[in-house]
Amino acid sequence: MADVRAWRAAQAGSVGLVPTMGYLHAGHVSLVDQARRDNDRVAVSLFVNPTQFGPAEDLSRYPRDLERDRTLLERAGCDLLFVPTVEDMYPHGPGASVDPGDVAQPLEGERRPGHFRGVATVVLKLLNIVQPTRAYFGQKDAQQLGVIRAIVRGLDVPVEIVGCPTVREPDGLALSSRNSYLDPDDRRAAPVVHRALVAARALWEQGERRADALREAMRRVLAEEPRARVDYVSVADPLTFRELDVLAGPALLSMAVFVGRARLIDNLVLS
Ligand code: PAF
Repeated sequence: MADVRAWRAAQAGSVGLVPTMGYLHAGHVSLVDQARRDNDRVAVSLFVNPTQFGPAEDLSRYPRDLERDRTLLERAGCDLLFVPTVEDMYPHGPGASVDPGDVAQPLEGERRPGHFRGVATVVLKLLNIVQPTRAYFGQKDAQQLGVIRAIVRGLDVPVEIVGCPTVREPDGLALSSRNSYLDPDDRRAAPVVHRALVAARALWEQGERRADALREAMRRVLAEEPRARVDYVSVADPLTFRELDVLAGPALLSMAVFVGRARLIDNLVLS
């Protein structure tokens, strides 16, 4: 921690921070690439944050491979890799935490109680430790990005938050460390999530503005895949994450779907 602060203090120019939980993929590398384009130096944090996992969630089996991540980041041109331990981050236990506010209530917040409090707290801690000029997050976790923007705005944190596009496999599956939970049959089934989003977007492009019709279109596509079990499908306001009745402006199509042992989340913005 002291090393990181000393490194930061020695940087005259701008610093971009990419916070991650490791087991990196091309989506993370795209965040590092964007951070390199925007800043003089790039720092990456790698920390599987226990406070954002529920008691029945996958903390103990979350995939980890520090050596592979280190090699990947060296190649990607990362200047500082920060890998704190749980003891470094929470020396006195979880302690004080950040109330993530209203945007954290619906969708993921409803299904994963405490998740966004954990995310908001660890991200604020990382921002306070590294004190970057900019911090980079993927649009794939759209509500997480909304929560982080809300705490930065609400608590006057002096950092620019940069949202970056979702990186996908050629068949549409959004890259995620949790895709490693998919066995070969599940992997073949998983692109149904993106197909469902695309089907709803196609309807919207044809002029459909009733949110229920878009939700129904997504559910219809998901129902064609026996391995997919829907947690939720949503058509929401992209700033508040509250469900819409009629689309009068931009909207966020999103869903969480279980495929085998993986819970896949994905989204598309209509604007
Ligand atoms: O998106 C993630 O990997 C994590 O939620 C984050 C932002 C690194 C906080 O632990």
